[in-house]
Amino acid sequence: MFEDLLRAWDGEEAVVRYDAASDAWMFVCVHSTALGPAGGGTRLRVYPTPGDGLADAIRLSGAMTRKFAAAGIPRGGGKAVLAVPELPEGDDRRRLLLRYGELVESLGGTYRTAGDMNISPADLDVVAERCRFVYGTTGRGGNSARGTAVGTLHAIHATVENAFGSPDVAGLHILVQGAGAVGADLARQLAEEGAHVLVSDVDAPRAAMTGLTVLPPDAVIGTECDLYAPCAVGGTLSAESIPRLRCRAIAGCANNQLAEPADGDRLHDAGILYAPDYVANAGGVIQLIGLEDLHWDEDELQRGLAKVGDTLREVFHMADAEGIAPAAAAERLVAERLAAATRTA
Ligand code: NAI
Repeated sequence: MFEDLLRAWDGEEAVVRYDAASDAWMFVCVHSTALGPAGGGTRLRVYPTPGDGLADAIRLSGAMTRKFAAAGIPRGGGKAVLAVPELPEGDDRRRLLLRYGELVESLGGTYRTAGDMNISPADLDVVAERCRFVYGTTGRGGNSARGTAVGTLHAIHATVENAFGSPDVAGLHILVQGAGAVGADLARQLAEEGAHVLVSDVDAPRAAMTGLTVLPPDAVIGTECDLYAPCAVGGTLSAESIPRLRCRAIAGCANNQLAEPADGDRLHDAGILYAPDYVANAGGVIQLIGLEDLHWDEDELQRGLAKVGDTLREVFHMADAEGIAPAAAAERLVAERLAAATRTA
């Protein structure tokens, strides 16, 4: 399984460590350092098999390369997974995170981590006790959800501008799937701007806490709306779901929204404007790099986050000019930036 995954991968380096004390597998996947040291979060999760954890790290690391390249940030893409038999707590969690910190430190900065699923800023504080290459600890860049929500809001403005002729969301029907750290914040901001917001979450109380109109999770695909914002899980846009969508545009923060690359063309053919996920959700990394490496103040941060909308406009412009899907245009933008970096290296 590991052999097949690594043979088929176009990434640079995968570091695999089995942690006997916790029966956990640690995978650090460096997809590309063409633009700079590889950045990407660490995901802590129970997987059916360790191979599923490696596959997740591989898939997510490529998305980080695209995200940084599209955002114009001089960083490569990487991702780490701690595949555990059960989510650890207390001292066991702390010891695992310390050993993980030693592993990342041993890579000398080739890979730099932040949080992802089940890894909080407090967990990163523990990793940082043994490692210098950590973003998003409690005292520094903080939780990236804030920047991700603001960036996604800019993405939505750029998307509705292209689809409806104005960036104004007032009066539009917007469906936000996932009322988590990013989705709930985003839904509230959209409602404040006058949109009619529908919210859906498998955790019904969480959706209700937004105070907005709640939609059952199984009704998301097929509900009529102007814009659908996937902010929960990946893979919601597929050959099976796309024909059932009743929206004009899609822009949300979830990673890996397309079940397969061909879904970008399927959306285009269906007349649905799609904001490529790794462009729309770059606000989190812009926040962390901006605050921690570039020492931005709040005004500079807000200007940096607004660039998410500018990049998306560039992608839509390229797609319109060449008659291709925005997903294909974004891939081209990324490929051009990576090729330019390789040429100058
Ligand atoms: P979160 O874990 O705080 O929220 C996710 C929410 O989605 C939870 O409330 C969960 O109950 C809900 N959910 C799960 N499956 C669902 C389903 N099938 N239908 C409806 N709701 C469902 O996560 P967060 O931080 O808000 O992130 C949301 C998405 O954005 C994730 O895909 C994440 O990978 C992605 N993302 C997050 C970034 C960040 O800075 N937090 C940065 C870039 C991407």
